[in-house]
Amino acid sequence: MQTVQDLPALRAAIRGWRAQGQTVGLVPTMGNLHAGHYALLKLARARADRVVASVFVNPTQFGPNEDFERYPRTLAQDQAGLAEHDCDLVFAPEVATMYPFGAEHSVSIHVPQLTDTLEGAHRPGHFDGVATVVCKLFNLVQPDLAVFGQKDFQQLKVIERMVRDLALPLKVVGAPTQRADDGLALSSRNQYLSAEERAVAPQIHATLVQMRELVVDKGHAWRIVEEAAQSKLERAGFVPDYVAIRRAEDLAEPEAGERTGLVALVAARLGTTRLIDNLQFD
Ligand code: PAF
Repeated sequence: MQTVQDLPALRAAIRGWRAQGQTVGLVPTMGNLHAGHYALLKLARARADRVVASVFVNPTQFGPNEDFERYPRTLAQDQAGLAEHDCDLVFAPEVATMYPFGAEHSVSIHVPQLTDTLEGAHRPGHFDGVATVVCKLFNLVQPDLAVFGQKDFQQLKVIERMVRDLALPLKVVGAPTQRADDGLALSSRNQYLSAEERAVAPQIHATLVQMRELVVDKGHAWRIVEEAAQSKLERAGFVPDYVAIRRAEDLAEPEAGERTGLVALVAARLGTTRLIDNLQFD
């Protein structure tokens, strides 16, 4: 496995593979990798001849009060894990490589509508930063496909919309969320939970499962289910940013009585840790 930091080295490696008629899969990450990321890599491996993982903590997707400086940077450990999981190339650029005119002067990609709600409403500008860096990575690597986790459901939708709207020539693949045995979605942020919080955290998934059951099997109104789920999480000690049932396709509010093609999404703080998760209803 090769690690490159600059564009000429990245392009040379990809040119070599292309010359042999090989396809390329990209797994964009911010590092601090865990089993959830390695599942993305496995999916890319199954669908492309060569796999590139990018490791880049992207400054433009962090808000002023978010943890950009504190975000764990664990490149050596990530490289070892990626090598073990059959990655061909790690692209680990400096900020100046991704943002040659400075992050604050970068061209910015805004995906409208989808980004006005949920995470977008609570983290203004976040998805502009994500769309911008992902578009840059696509231009640099020029992959045939790129794999993103369904855990960041809204992010996946935003990227799919950007790719379609800008007619970018690649396929976006959504990978199922990896969970611990008790249902907690794997996330780099889980490491910040205390033992007590870790014991409570799986209630997010349990609540999502119950929301699905109440809407799909029992026919309850989605708004009532949202409210009940929010109260349940608050009683368990969470401070929810949102507990929402939306159309999976465009994250719009469903019509009354709509039961198919829905997704439930939660973002909630437990102590100082913000957790997100979601569950598609079908
Ligand atoms: O999901 C992430 O880790 C990041 O948002 C991504 C897609 C790598 C862009 O920085």
